[in-house]
Amino acid sequence: MMLNNMTRFATVLTLSLGAYTTSHAAEPGKPDYTKMSAEALAEHLVLESGSFDLDQPTQEGGTARERMIQDDLQKLCSQTRNKPNAEQAGQIVTAARASIQYPEGGISLGDWQKGGDLAWGGFGYRIGHNPDDHSQRDPSGNCYNCHALSPQRTGGDIGPSLTGYGIIRGDTEATRRFVYDMIYNPHAYFPCTHMPRMGAKGLLTQEAIADIMAYLLDPESPVNK
Ligand code: HEC
Repeated sequence: MMLNNMTRFATVLTLSLGAYTTSHAAEPGKPDYTKMSAEALAEHLVLESGSFDLDQPTQEGGTARERMIQDDLQKLCSQTRNKPNAEQAGQIVTAARASIQYPEGGISLGDWQKGGDLAWGGFGYRIGHNPDDHSQRDPSGNCYNCHALSPQRTGGDIGPSLTGYGIIRGDTEATRRFVYDMIYNPHAYFPCTHMPRMGAKGLLTQEAIADIMAYLLDPESPVNK
């Protein structure tokens, strides 16, 4: 996830720097950006150039620098370039399944309108000039960055389109369980997926997950219109 974002960030920079560097040769002692791969440029800009303030505090406590430290899953996925072998994949799936906590009384759907706001929101855990304040507003789900959702708006295409999800999959117990698991920890089905672990990492509460699930599965939701 982190590397993926960094690579995209570097790609944008490479494109915009391209025009600049053609007329300005690299200064002596400074790296020639035009000769670096997107990954190497991202590493350099984020970790070495001093252009990004890694000492900035984060909502969860600690600093931006601490966010750059990969956990065991991220390390394994980076080492294998997101292609774990069968044994590694099995371990990832087992650990992901064990991380999922279910609501007491079973998985139910919440309020699809609230879920829509959460699915289309990017609030939460952002750092920079105007850090998010979680005492004012709950973190949202960022689903729109990777998924098409309702036909009225344009979403991302890193993940599959979820438009019409409830119509296509039906609101059954099995679908609810799958969608809950996917939002909570998608490595339970797709080891080394790009989709974040929003329940397991404490970004979304069980209530927020129930609302977002309603947005995907409720027949009244614009996703299913
Ligand atoms: C960073 C990108 C990203 C974000 C953010 C993201 N997803 Fe995903 N999602 C994916 C990818 C990629 C897949 C496909 C699994 C794979 O191949 O890795 C996926 C798969 C899914 C699936 C299974 C689709 C199917 O065919 O049944 C569901 C459901 C889903 N995501 C829901 C969500 C919801 C809800 C959110 C917001 C809370 C969300 N996703 C946020 C990338 C993302």
